[in-house]
Amino acid sequence: MNVLVIGGGGREHAICWSLLKSPRIGKLYCAPGNAGIAQIAKCVDISATDIDNIVRFAEKNVDLVVVAPDNPLALGLVNELESAGIRAFGPRKEAAIIESSKVFAKELMTKYGIPTARYEVFTNSIEAKAYIRDKGTPAVIKADGLAFGKGVFVASNIGSADNAINLIMHEKKFGESGSRIIIEEFMTGPEVTVLAFTDGKTIVPMLSSQDYKRAYTGDLGANTGGMGAFCPSPYYSEEIADTCMEKIFRPTIDAMRIEGRMFKGVIYFGLMLTQQGPRVVEYNARFGDPETQPILSLLKTDLLDIFEAIVDERLDKIAIEWKYGSACCVVMASGGYPERFGKGYEITGLDQVPGDITVFHAGTARSEDSFVTNGGRVLGITATGNSLAIAAARAYVGVRFIDFYLAHYRSDIGHIIG
Ligand code: AMP
Ligand code: GLY
Repeated sequence: MNVLVIGGGGREHAICWSLLKSPRIGKLYCAPGNAGIAQIAKCVDISATDIDNIVRFAEKNVDLVVVAPDNPLALGLVNELESAGIRAFGPRKEAAIIESSKVFAKELMTKYGIPTARYEVFTNSIEAKAYIRDKGTPAVIKADGLAFGKGVFVASNIGSADNAINLIMHEKKFGESGSRIIIEEFMTGPEVTVLAFTDGKTIVPMLSSQDYKRAYTGDLGANTGGMGAFCPSPYYSEEIADTCMEKIFRPTIDAMRIEGRMFKGVIYFGLMLTQQGPRVVEYNARFGDPETQPILSLLKTDLLDIFEAIVDERLDKIAIEWKYGSACCVVMASGGYPERFGKGYEITGLDQVPGDITVFHAGTARSEDSFVTNGGRVLGITATGNSLAIAAARAYVGVRFIDFYLAHYRSDIGHIIG
């Protein structure tokens, strides 16, 4: 079976790497891919949001398209592929809205009684500021639409709340994503991410995970797309898993089906384990990055079988199994990320990394004989082990072999946060 994966980051490298283990995989393509993906799949020079060209390429070359990033999902790539008669893995546009509109997600949770932070929606900044003065801080301020994971501000005082509101609504830091904002109650507790496979009727959670959103060691600095992740989370007990299934996971996919927005693909639950029980912080309509790198490192079942079972709506017919142990991914990023950073610096040491450590490429390109940096997040060094401590130590062994100008990484990935 010939497959095209859409996207070009560490998550897509891990998806390609996992698909290649399937005995049924034929030609594997990735658009646009990156230099690491190019070592294992044929990269096609089409951007992830160039819907027309993706459909045209897929019609000629593949049997299945796997859409990984949020943007093409929100733009309706899966709908377009299906209209052209091409099998596609990922939610349709009307289901991907669970990520692309936070207002939609909050209204869904309210309507179906799914636990989340209390909130109000504002399209007027004066009213938003008055509301914060009334309710007090800390308050959480979020742009409605997609904002590369950076549209959320936790304001500890009125001044920073006003700044966040101005940045989103007046300076339009996230473009039209900022014409509506949500102000949420501030919740506390450990954060756990659960990705789940779903065909819209059956939902099968993957191993729980934790990611590190802040740029620097000790949870300092700006929010990023994610500086590392591990799985499973020690906070996620069987009892909590049962509660999440009953109060959050099932109700969410049932709600989407009832709303005529059947969700097929991977759904991402960002959860906070509060004193009152688990609550939803956010939904994403896709695999997380970098959570996918450690999670797929522990997947035993053939990923292609899972994707097909989801597309064909027979997820209840297959068993999904995981390897014993833990996995950990340490992201090596460009100096300056998530703000300004340079590109084109040579990456050394990749060929010396021991074979049991997997280096997923996120932002890399090829320059003559070497790999060079080509993005904010450059590499995800991933290892497994019988315990989290072993997996993390092994990932850091990999990190020590690799270097590039101004490389930066957190030294506390795998330390429990929460
Ligand atoms: P999000 O992009 O919605 O996941 O938000 C990014 C991060 O902001 C989350 O991972 C949390 O750490 C934090 N956050 C978001 N919403 C809340 C909330 N209501 N209370 C406390 N922290 C939050
Ligand atoms: N690591 C967070 C995300 O993928 O949204």
